[in-house]
Amino acid sequence: MSYPQDSDWLIDPGYCGSILKDPCSPNLKKRVVECLSQFRALDNPNNPSIPYISAWREDDEVIWYEFVGSRLPELLGCPADKTARVLADSIIKRSVYVCRDEEENIRQKSIQQKNLASKRKTLRRESKHSGSVEAIYKIALHTGEIVWLKDQANIESFADDNICLSLGGLTCVTKEMKEAEQSAEAGNKLRQEREHLDQLLEKQEKEIWKNQLEIVYRLAKATELRDNQASIHLTKMSHYCNILGKAAGLNNLQRTLLFHAAPMHDVGKIGISENILQKPGPLTPKEFELMKSHSIIGAKLLSGNNSKLLKMAKTIALTHHEKWDGSGYPNSLHDNKIPLSGRIAAICDVFDALTSERPYKKAWPADDAFGELYQGKRHHFDPELVDLFLQHIPEIMEIHDRFSPFPLR
Ligand SMILES: [Fe+2]
Ligand SMILES: [Fe+2]
Repeated sequence: MSYPQDSDWLIDPGYCGSILKDPCSPNLKKRVVECLSQFRALDNPNNPSIPYISAWREDDEVIWYEFVGSRLPELLGCPADKTARVLADSIIKRSVYVCRDEEENIRQKSIQQKNLASKRKTLRRESKHSGSVEAIYKIALHTGEIVWLKDQANIESFADDNICLSLGGLTCVTKEMKEAEQSAEAGNKLRQEREHLDQLLEKQEKEIWKNQLEIVYRLAKATELRDNQASIHLTKMSHYCNILGKAAGLNNLQRTLLFHAAPMHDVGKIGISENILQKPGPLTPKEFELMKSHSIIGAKLLSGNNSKLLKMAKTIALTHHEKWDGSGYPNSLHDNKIPLSGRIAAICDVFDALTSERPYKKAWPADDAFGELYQGKRHHFDPELVDLFLQHIPEIMEIHDRFSPFPLR
């Protein structure tokens, strides 16, 4: 549709637009004239907002001003008729604030300069659809200064002309946005520092854990050397404890601790004389009393450290000879008074001792060893743990066969 030039429109010499000069609909021209008089009145230094009327054709990329308050060309350092182009080129970031969730948390959604050109048509379509626009532009001025302008406008669409008008104002929000940006930068810096610290701590914790393992394995090794025990006993015991711990419902961390703490159960034998430890025959009652003290010596050796690993190791060292009926040592604990780690270690220690060959005895057949544990329910071992152990015979056999020179049958 085209319209003849309408000479009735009084065109102000300062008019920088094109609608009043172009063959547009009388309806659109009328609206532009109305707005021009209103917006000119708003263009004064007392108004914090710089009024503007911009326009664009829906099938075209170009946007132009029908009117722009004098402060915007001044700010951008350009003539009024170049303001739209210069402003578009100066925007380094366009942000909108949107409600993202039911709690009405406001989030900033930003588009950087490099993506703005390709998104301009979409943004205009969205603002036409919503009938308004509210955005903040971060602008790099020709002087190198950075300013922020908040744009608030209503959008009117003129279908006959395929033209939209944006009737709005630009308010300088540099102070507020600078503060917000600085506070976001400070927050980011703090987060980065915290992440760095967390990484350092994690590294340190790993190092501490590695050192603890090194110490406990050296201690366990020292016990083996004195006691003539095969190191394979400690390895198998760790794995048996892991199977039984899992069956008893221990979580991953508890099982990891149990796995590494179990080999220290006899660490107190460091304090027992070799004559007793390596005596080929049965011990006299006095010797047996001395031997029993290895549980207390072990607990003392492992005490005074706050690490979870050493605390569990101490508990196991102290309680792995306690018995369910209270007839064990060193403290005659009974039932659930015996810590779970000690009850688990007791079953796994005895089972491996029975099924291992020692200088003074042959390895028991599997069925006999399982039978012995069964017989020990209620008086020696926690009955529920024995049942759980016996429910996992295939896994137990697999561990034994993996680490022993002869299969357990
Ligand atoms: Fe022991
Ligand atoms: Fe043992």
